[in-house]
Amino acid sequence: MTVECVVGLQWGDEGKGKIVDALAEKFELIVRFAGGANAGHTVVFDGQQFILHLIPTGILHPGKSCIIANGVAFDPETFFLEVKGLHASGYETEGRLFVSDRAHVVFPYHKRLDLLREKARGAGKIGTTARGIGPCYADKASRIGVRVCDLVEPETLRHMLSQNAAQKNDLFTSQGFAAIDEPSLLEKFADFGKRLKPYMRETRPLIADALNEGRSVLFEGAQGALLDIDHGTYPYVTSSNTGLDGVSSSTGVPLRKVDRVSGVVKSYCTRVGDGPFPTEQPGPIGEHLQQKGGEFGATTGRPRRCGWLDLVAVRYTAAINGVDALTLTKLDVLGGLEEIRVATSYECGGREITEFPASLEVLSTVKPKYEVFDGWQDDITGARELGDLPGSTVKYLRALEEMLGIPIAVVSLGSSREQTIYLDS
Ligand code: IMP
Repeated sequence: MTVECVVGLQWGDEGKGKIVDALAEKFELIVRFAGGANAGHTVVFDGQQFILHLIPTGILHPGKSCIIANGVAFDPETFFLEVKGLHASGYETEGRLFVSDRAHVVFPYHKRLDLLREKARGAGKIGTTARGIGPCYADKASRIGVRVCDLVEPETLRHMLSQNAAQKNDLFTSQGFAAIDEPSLLEKFADFGKRLKPYMRETRPLIADALNEGRSVLFEGAQGALLDIDHGTYPYVTSSNTGLDGVSSSTGVPLRKVDRVSGVVKSYCTRVGDGPFPTEQPGPIGEHLQQKGGEFGATTGRPRRCGWLDLVAVRYTAAINGVDALTLTKLDVLGGLEEIRVATSYECGGREITEFPASLEVLSTVKPKYEVFDGWQDDITGARELGDLPGSTVKYLRALEEMLGIPIAVVSLGSSREQTIYLDS
């Protein structure tokens, strides 16, 4: 197996960072293909925690190469902060980290637009990460976006910034903000352009060459399938294709090159930001999951909403992504609960439905129908193989596999690299 894609099957924060980090051992090239600095991939090893928002976590494996592909909303400020942090921790980046010259650039005006658009939505706000992601992709679709390759062409950059200023300044000044300061923005981003030269590449041929040479490639998804702009709980989504659908458009690699898709599912559900969440548990169950699972955003620090695992949603997202095998994360967090629930269908207007609905009105009124499992009281964080787990835990795992019709290949029981059980090896 040489080409694998890792995707989140819920609303993000499934624990992909740790899984990609574990998988990175086996791959030579790791490619980030969606989202931007809205993501927060947390990796823990040797007692140290790393949170990367933009650079693939594969960079923490010396000798591996990493790519930020053209579908990523590229924020140079975050990029250089992360590069600085990596250098300070002894990680080399030059010669093994590459940024697509076609990636769209996030500017400070995108972050300001993000806040203004959220404010204008009032109670219907999306709950974005305020990283300027939506406005950056909106500019891309409106054909006024600035790409990484433009940062090294001062005249082009000057022209594009003045086009953007002409389009956006009326809004800014009418809302009491200063107009875009074109000269200082030009200077700052042209400087980023100069500093990006060692990293900037046409990345498609780099990936294609790796594939032609039979080298292994890992596509690292960001966010989750329910936040996908096309398939997620629109409009409470992010602005990119977060799953397998994003690989091809974002990297220029045909989808048929992907040998295997791993779907990452947390043992319960969380959501940061607004929008319907059928299995949400605002009471003591939600509190248990939030506290024990440390469910606070890696990017914004916001508390995450928590609830039971929703298999109606996971069946849907696994199908969209053609998932071959599952990784179940944070199983230890369920420990200590008397019983564990899993939604298997929804009741809607007296009818049972098993398809994840498009309409948010429907999704916010459905009543989940639950399968109930015995909980376990033992601490399972030290388990290293299936036989170390209590009988009720194994029963729960096997039932999930059966209900989803997909094997579980990996189980994660804590944040460190060692707290992992591989079932298919
Ligand atoms: P945006 O991507 O900042 O525009 O935010 C849109 C929605 O996606 C909001 O509900 C965010 O909370 C959510 N979101 C974006 N990135 C992540 C992530 O990495 N994990 C979880 N939720 C995210």
